[in-house]
Amino acid sequence: MSDVLELAGVSLVRGGKTLLDGIDWQVREGERWVVMGPNGAGKTTLLQLAGARLHPTSGVVGILDEVMGAVDVFELRPRIGLASAALAAQVPEQETVLNVVVTASYGVTGRWREEYERLDERRALRLLDTWGVSRFMNRPFGSLSEGERKRVQIARALMADPELLLLDEPFAGLDLAGREDLVRRLSALARDEDAAAMVLVTHHLEEVPPGFTHAMLLREGAVVSAGPIEEVLTEEHLGAAFDLEVGLTRENGRYRAVARQ
Ligand SMILES: Nc1ncnc2c1ncn2[C@@H]1O[C@H](COP(=O)(O)OP(=O)(O)OP(=O)(O)O)[C@@H](O)[C@H]1O
Ligand SMILES: [Mg+2]
Repeated sequence: MSDVLELAGVSLVRGGKTLLDGIDWQVREGERWVVMGPNGAGKTTLLQLAGARLHPTSGVVGILDEVMGAVDVFELRPRIGLASAALAAQVPEQETVLNVVVTASYGVTGRWREEYERLDERRALRLLDTWGVSRFMNRPFGSLSEGERKRVQIARALMADPELLLLDEPFAGLDLAGREDLVRRLSALARDEDAAAMVLVTHHLEEVPPGFTHAMLLREGAVVSAGPIEEVLTEEHLGAAFDLEVGLTRENGRYRAVARQ
């Protein structure tokens, strides 16, 4: 089995601050990772490295059998689906929902543009339908609610049929029904054997979709614990990551965490 991500001794320093400190991490095909940790722990920074958006200050970042620094990132990026608030903020308000998704395939379909356009549109529509937002296809992206935007972003991230899917806080701003709906959809995706390897950054244990296989806990740029999800998501490890006495329960594959009083 080949490595989707292979980080060895990766550190990232910015503005004199060490954002990531000696990270070793392997993600293999078929694995579904959840990354958790306090605000400022370095989760988004880690995802940007994994998405070939940032270079490490030291160490080696391997992505889809390519090594950062020795590969054209513009060839690598279309193989990675990324959904994040930063990316969504770059979408012009007036861009239609269909276009937001279709344009994710530009650059990978090459010179037969016109022939591909219709195929691309059909694929984009199918993805919008899968994620329950096809009725918004002609609406400006800026007019959608937070939850609707989240689903459009995931459809966009899947448009180029990526080998690696990176989701940075897709649950942020969702109501209870929206959260539960997204948990269910991500759980189905996680259980699809043919789906890309996934890394999901999230803040709440309740948002961990059943079917996710691995977890990483980050604190101050360093790994507290990483590996199979049942071994990592424990009261002890969560307590160490969040500096809090944590009470953890698990029922039907769903986690729930509260502070011990
Ligand atoms: N250019 C920079 N210079 C200095 N510090 C930076 C820079 N960019 C990010 N940081 C800091 O790096 C730390 C990690 O940021 P990051 O966005 O990766 O955290 P996070 O774990 O995603 O947090 P959150 O849960 O709040 O999204 C933060 O303390 C942030 O302020
Ligand atoms: Mg973040």
